Amino acid sequence: MPLLLNAQDYRAAARRLLPKALFEYIDRGAEDENALRRLRDVLDAVHLVPTVLTGHGERNLQAEVLGHKISMPVIIAPTALAGMVSHNGEIKIARAAERIGIPACISTQSVTTVEEIRAGAPAANLWFQLYLWKDRSLSRALLERVQKAGVDTLVVTADTPTGPKREYNQRNGFAIPIKYSARLGIDVATHPRWLAGVLMRYILTTGMPTYGHYPEEFRSSVTRAQLAERVKLENLLNWNDIHELRRWWKGKLIIKGVLSVEDAELAHAAGAEGIVVSSHDARNLDILPAPIEVLPQIADRLGDKLEIIADSGIQRGSDVVKYVASGAKAVMIGRLPLWGLAAGGETGADNLLSMLRNEIDLTLTMLGRKTPYECKTSATHS
Ligand SMILES: Cc1cc2nc3c(=O)[nH]c(=O)nc-3n(C[C@H](O)[C@H](O)[C@H](O)COP(=O)(O)O)c2cc1C
Repeated sequence: MPLLLNAQDYRAAARRLLPKALFEYIDRGAEDENALRRLRDVLDAVHLVPTVLTGHGERNLQAEVLGHKISMPVIIAPTALAGMVSHNGEIKIARAAERIGIPACISTQSVTTVEEIRAGAPAANLWFQLYLWKDRSLSRALLERVQKAGVDTLVVTADTPTGPKREYNQRNGFAIPIKYSARLGIDVATHPRWLAGVLMRYILTTGMPTYGHYPEEFRSSVTRAQLAERVKLENLLNWNDIHELRRWWKGKLIIKGVLSVEDAELAHAAGAEGIVVSSHDARNLDILPAPIEVLPQIADRLGDKLEIIADSGIQRGSDVVKYVASGAKAVMIGRLPLWGLAAGGETGADNLLSMLRNEIDLTLTMLGRKTPYECKTSATHS
């Protein structure tokens, strides 16, 4: 087993262990992947200025997000089908998040349901991400279940009005729901650990994995080609829906996928408590700015009115500190926990999160700062 010393090591392990179709679904962007490359370039071009001889003995990584104290300014992002990376992957990630003291956001498109995740991680700070379905009454019924499972924070994803163009998925024969093809069959057969440890384990226990939250009458096996019309994603989602949601969702409301000051203002006007400044990891639209480029203006204008969370492209603890220094209260991480999970199951997720925490701590020590909120950028975006 090679040493796993940084996120790229975990990614390489995931590449070996997962079928190519699943690995690329997680790893890659959209269309020509320009936005994905820029994401990294822009993050690399952000520099932080140290202060020397401060003599801080101990750093304090704690953050307070929406009234909750968390152990570091990191939240697990919602990722569809995390349960395909490892058996009961969503429960494992929630437990790892609980152990290290950070929230985990469940995707509408998770394999395991919110009730199962709650049962597996009773004390976890669970958030829920909503993709609104065309039949809003079904979404409302789902959110009632979510609330009953003790979830206080709802994250409404606003940046996915339609399915993105990811050509590699077509070439690999990967689609959601998954369709069988000879190519996919060979891919799966040549990754026997995943086949035995994940797919067969589901098939022999709970059956072919499905989108766990889809209503019973529409629950389609991920092998079925068509999702019923009523549970298609609502491409007409608009601010009126957010106002409507705000009227009856009793917990906190966050809008994910905001990249402009204007939209951040609309989110505030609609009664949201927070936003996620996000390009969805450059997976949807290939011409988006890197979120860290637009974050400072948004934080500057709305930072005292909204909880500003940001994400996309985080590979190192220093990336987390860069986002915080650019105005984020906390960040979300999507691919990293999946790499941890793929490389070593629940322990892999634990180890990856500890590694990230240690890197944040090291960055602060080197910068001579006690908390991430004291760090400053030298505004050197290229
Ligand atoms: C495999 C995968 C699945 C995702 N699924 C969802 C989803 O269901 N809902 C959502 O709002 N965002 C989804 N995202 C986006 C993440 O929530 C997050 O914005 C992004 O992954 C952050 O970038 P990072 O992966 O570089 O950390 C997904 C991302 C990945 C990598």
